[in-house]
Amino acid sequence: MSAQPLVLGIETSCDETAIGIVRGRTLLANVIASSVDEHARFGGVVPEIASRAHLEAMLPMLDQALLQAKVSLKDLDAVSVTAGPGLVGALLVGVASASGLALGLGKPLYGVNHLAAHVSVDLLTHANAIEPTIALLVSGGHSSLLQVDDITSSVVKLGESMDDAAGEAFDKIARVMGLGFPGGPAIDRESNNGNSTAIDFPRGLTQSQDWRERPFDFSFSGLKTAVARYLEATPDYVRADVAASFQEAIVDVLLQKALLACKKSGIDSLVIAGGVAANSRLRHVAQERCDGAKIRLRIPAPALCTDNGAMVAALGSLMAAAGRPASTIGIDADSSLSVTCVSVA
Ligand code: KG4
Ligand code: ZN
Repeated sequence: MSAQPLVLGIETSCDETAIGIVRGRTLLANVIASSVDEHARFGGVVPEIASRAHLEAMLPMLDQALLQAKVSLKDLDAVSVTAGPGLVGALLVGVASASGLALGLGKPLYGVNHLAAHVSVDLLTHANAIEPTIALLVSGGHSSLLQVDDITSSVVKLGESMDDAAGEAFDKIARVMGLGFPGGPAIDRESNNGNSTAIDFPRGLTQSQDWRERPFDFSFSGLKTAVARYLEATPDYVRADVAASFQEAIVDVLLQKALLACKKSGIDSLVIAGGVAANSRLRHVAQERCDGAKIRLRIPAPALCTDNGAMVAALGSLMAAAGRPASTIGIDADSSLSVTCVSVA
């Protein structure tokens, strides 16, 4: 395998049918078809609708990605696909498509972890290797603190959310505030006009006992309840202030714990990844605090934080370049694949 493998990556774990093509660490194509509008009136992703939309979008997206990258299928060195975690029916469309492509082309297949792919996409923005690093992975389905010694083989979980994921908390609070779905970008925008210190919302798992027993775990359910109670008790609430104060509580606790993980592990590097890493306040406060603590901070470009195919291609490219074993053609989708399992055999 060349040191700069040409890899096509397919992502279908949720509501985006996304394909990326990279050559080594260079992004050549990144196309996305989203079924988000079809789910909006249900206030969340409907699995059956997502699966059908993937089937319809797969071939047009493939054509579009090849056109954008100016390569043809036969040029590819490998095919990479999200094998999990995610919605099983949605994942299956990607896994079956990628297996078919790899088999037809006679090229290796890498069935990779969606969460590790979120972290690895940073190398398309910042060229040098990311490891060793602490990674704060914050998406719609997961919030974890990871120690990454080698993104192709060694990811250790330091902690995770005990209840809602950070993105899920954004989505749920946006819904009760009538801000629409997905809620993260809406709260981000609304907060621009709000006062983040207007309401002192609780920071979950930050009591002294928590710092001793669960220093790297998160909990957002208390915050969610506190916001809902506040809204009920305050009919004339200022929406922008509630949004900004809620956002501040999440950002604050995520970063307190991420920086502590850097300090405790002696690793002076932090990568923030996943959809919530697109949050403008999180990006801003992270930079301030990392500068203060002399920690190198890396956050992918906002468009690469939310689900995309480039991240799957990026991880596939690293796997291929590192000589990691390919997956078996016809691998299963694993809807609950552990964050520590970078690829499936
Ligand atoms: O990584 P992602 O695209 O999909 C999953 O793997 O879950 O993350 C989606 C989540 C959603 O909950 C969405 O509300 C949140 O990321 N998100 C944001 C922002 N953009 C997306 N949350 C806060 N601020 C944003 N700007
Ligand atoms: Zn994701």
